[in-house]
Amino acid sequence: MKNYVLTPGPVPVPEFVMLEMAKPIIHHRTAEFEEIFFKATQGLKKVFMTQEEVLILASSGTGAMDAAVCNTLSKGDEVIVVNGGKFGERWGKICKAYGVISHELKVEWGQAVKTDDINEMLDKNKNVKAILIQASETSTGVEHPIKEIAEITKNRDDLILIVDGITAVGAFPVEFDNWGIDILIGGSQKAFMLPPGLSFISLSKKAWKFYEDSDLPKFYLDLNQAYKNSLKKTSPWTPAVNLVMGLNAVLEHFDKLGLENLFRRHSIMSEATIKGFESIGLENFAPGCSSTALSVIKSPEGIDAGEIIKGLKNKYGMIVAGGQDQAKGKIFRITHMGYVDKGDMISVIAGVESILNELKYDFTPGLGVSTATRILDSL
Ligand SMILES: Cc1ncc(COP(=O)(O)O)c(C=O)c1O
Repeated sequence: MKNYVLTPGPVPVPEFVMLEMAKPIIHHRTAEFEEIFFKATQGLKKVFMTQEEVLILASSGTGAMDAAVCNTLSKGDEVIVVNGGKFGERWGKICKAYGVISHELKVEWGQAVKTDDINEMLDKNKNVKAILIQASETSTGVEHPIKEIAEITKNRDDLILIVDGITAVGAFPVEFDNWGIDILIGGSQKAFMLPPGLSFISLSKKAWKFYEDSDLPKFYLDLNQAYKNSLKKTSPWTPAVNLVMGLNAVLEHFDKLGLENLFRRHSIMSEATIKGFESIGLENFAPGCSSTALSVIKSPEGIDAGEIIKGLKNKYGMIVAGGQDQAKGKIFRITHMGYVDKGDMISVIAGVESILNELKYDFTPGLGVSTATRILDSL
């Protein structure tokens, strides 16, 4: 049986990327690797839509989240954390670990934050220095309105917008410079279709001013070290050499494909998956605000999502993600990022239909597949 990894990270890695990473190791303090590293940072700027440096860290995405906090804030600073899922919650935990005071803006799971609520919280808390949010909250499948929130922060010198774009950058447009984002983070095992192990982070000029005032402890994740070295085409510590080689293969592929076409792929797969499942009565968990990086689908009334997830794995070797906390047993999550294509989407919908049939769910078998296929035909 084949092994299909259809989770919203890690995602399947294309063969041409695996082959690039299988090349012999190069020493990192050589002109040869410096060119590779430089090329990667230049390519990342296009995906981040910025003229600023994009720093490459040898860490998972959480490392860059940690860096965003400890490089810009100080003990006792106040921030707003938008918490509409597990990753929003993580911002709060990181702040707590550093003694940063977070005002939590709770958002119902499956809904996007309202800018009015952010404005209201800012009015009540005049000392807030940063807003921390996800562009795509992977635990619920919600896309938050980053462009609108940046409208609030971009003209204020005393307030920065810190965006976890780990399942957004490379999946759909997040325009760092145009929108006026201050910190944006990406992760290798998501739309960059690499194995886990790299995170990417960019800072605006305003965020670098915050760096000057920040008193939180930092060493490995000191972004000024990374920045100074990045200008010299290298990194302060030993980089994840072969992952960076793989990253260049991915970025070259993105260049050939064109970012618009890359984003279009994700949105067509998302529309097909959501409409396919809706046609057989399964609801989208994030209606009206779905991130195109993944689809989050509710299991039907009376059927535990765990049964669907287990069935897919045992019968078809397909791994999809479940829900956590309050969404446990209620949802399943499918990636549109990475080396997945329309055949994978059709297969997983067919797989779910087959499991639902076994579980005696009442629907028209084949309708989900045919609905999705019609939409996927435009890919
Ligand atoms: C939106 C979001 N933020 C943060 C993370 C954490 O990243 P990592 O697991 O790479 O540390 C993830 C990973 O799933 C994510 O999807």
